Amino acid sequence: MKILILNGPSLNMLGIREPGLYGKKDFKALEEFCRQSCRENGLECALFQSNHEGALVDRIQEAYFEGIDGIVINPGAYTHTSVALLDALKAVSIPAVEVHLTNVNEREDFRKISYVRQACIAVFAGYGFDGYRMAIEKLKETLG
Ligand code: DQA
Repeated sequence: MKILILNGPSLNMLGIREPGLYGKKDFKALEEFCRQSCRENGLECALFQSNHEGALVDRIQEAYFEGIDGIVINPGAYTHTSVALLDALKAVSIPAVEVHLTNVNEREDFRKISYVRQACIAVFAGYGFDGYRMAIEKLKETLG
């Protein structure tokens, strides 16, 4: 089984970006953490990060043709704005789990809105890197 882990805008700036909020560990460390979590769960893993909405839509569509079994997605700020990402996830019907490093429900009101959530089977927000592991485990359990 192969999982695609998608990260949206400015997640590549981890470690530099608002460390008080997002932590001091960098994006490379997050990618390694995700690879390790997939390995521990016996899953193959593909990673993709982009600051561009269309590139994320393209990658979701490619996942369909590539036979990806599950998607972990942290859409960053596009969470709160993107009907395009919601439609892409709906279009491919691949089980997806939404992840956020921070607890978006306890921040500004605009962060409480998530468009992609409608196409996701679960959400993990506020657990830092561990949220990605929880999402991977959830997909493993769902995919059986
Ligand atoms: C985020 C939360 C979003 O509101 C924000 O725009 C991000 C990161 C998180 O992981 O906590 O870029 O998705």
